[in-house]
Amino acid sequence: MVNKVTVVGAGNVGATTAQRVAEKELARRVVMVDVAEGVPQGKGLDQWQSAPIEGFDARVVGTNGYDETADSDIVVITAGIARKPGMSRDDLLNTNAGIVKQVSENIKRTSPDAIVIMVSNPLDVMAYVAKEVTGFPRERVLGMAGVLDTGRYRAFLAEALDVSVRDIQAMVLGGHGDTMVPLVSYTSVSGIPVTQLMPREQLDAIVTRTRNGGAEIVKYLKTGSAYYAPSSGAVQMVEAIVRDQKRILPCAAYLQGEYGMEGLFLGVPCKLGRGGLEQVIEVELTNDERVALQKSADAVREPMGALKL
Ligand code: NAI
Ligand code: 2OP
Repeated sequence: MVNKVTVVGAGNVGATTAQRVAEKELARRVVMVDVAEGVPQGKGLDQWQSAPIEGFDARVVGTNGYDETADSDIVVITAGIARKPGMSRDDLLNTNAGIVKQVSENIKRTSPDAIVIMVSNPLDVMAYVAKEVTGFPRERVLGMAGVLDTGRYRAFLAEALDVSVRDIQAMVLGGHGDTMVPLVSYTSVSGIPVTQLMPREQLDAIVTRTRNGGAEIVKYLKTGSAYYAPSSGAVQMVEAIVRDQKRILPCAAYLQGEYGMEGLFLGVPCKLGRGGLEQVIEVELTNDERVALQKSADAVREPMGALKL
């Protein structure tokens, strides 16, 4: 357990993240910050009142300022606007870049040693904004998307094969968008290559559904986007760091030459422990996967060019 985890943005993803962090007792104090007056305070109090029933001792509080967040060990950023039907993640760019810049300045001032986990979209670009504004080293700025995208891929595969989700090992790399790269060559069911268990056309359909996984939920919800699985993804990363688990998870990391790329955030296999990003792992890719990863990096770089910080 660490002393303090802050979640910025007390909306759907943020509030669910705070609740999961508290229920897992990953921090003594969980602070939710939001600009909406009363919302983080009300949700924090409500969650805290669930503590005696759920049986956790983490104290959850909500606030509109950053004093309460001082010296956080980990800050999860979910502030911003979410996708509406017909909107791409990149449509969110300018609004959310301004929000993330302001949030990052506050984190730098009040929690200079924190590890930041970005969730706001467009994810890979917002992680870049946080790194640029805070000036934190890459070990302390990560983006959550790969865990979510891989969760969707694993869920679809488990359902199609009628096996436990626990036995599906897989990784989705690349940017958090339509160009993401589910790695079929590293997808297995208890070590059995998935290509031995289902026809290629069925696998291709699952890969396509995974790429459109966020849009599928937006289409159902109409007024917002997914938050249960996204918050699970963020909390899995928080837990790996807090408990120094040395988990290998697909996360958006700032590349410094890995996979032949540098100067951008992209989803790659990362080792997470108490130091935050402890290693970027370079795996061998098939030719098609390498081309797809490059294409995904190009899709991340394009909006980066339009950023005004
Ligand atoms: P939401 O609209 O429910 O919550 C966003 C919250 O941010 C609101 O409560 C709003 O008042 C708050 N906010 C706005 N400006 C703020 C500021 N300057 N400081 C603090 N709080 C501020 O949206 P939801 O569903 O929680 O999504 C949040 C973000 O996460 C969106 O950008 C969404 O696209 C992204 N997202 C990313 C995923 C990923 O895999 N990386 C998955 C799901 C959502
Ligand atoms: C998702 O993938 C909207 O990025 C969000 O659900």
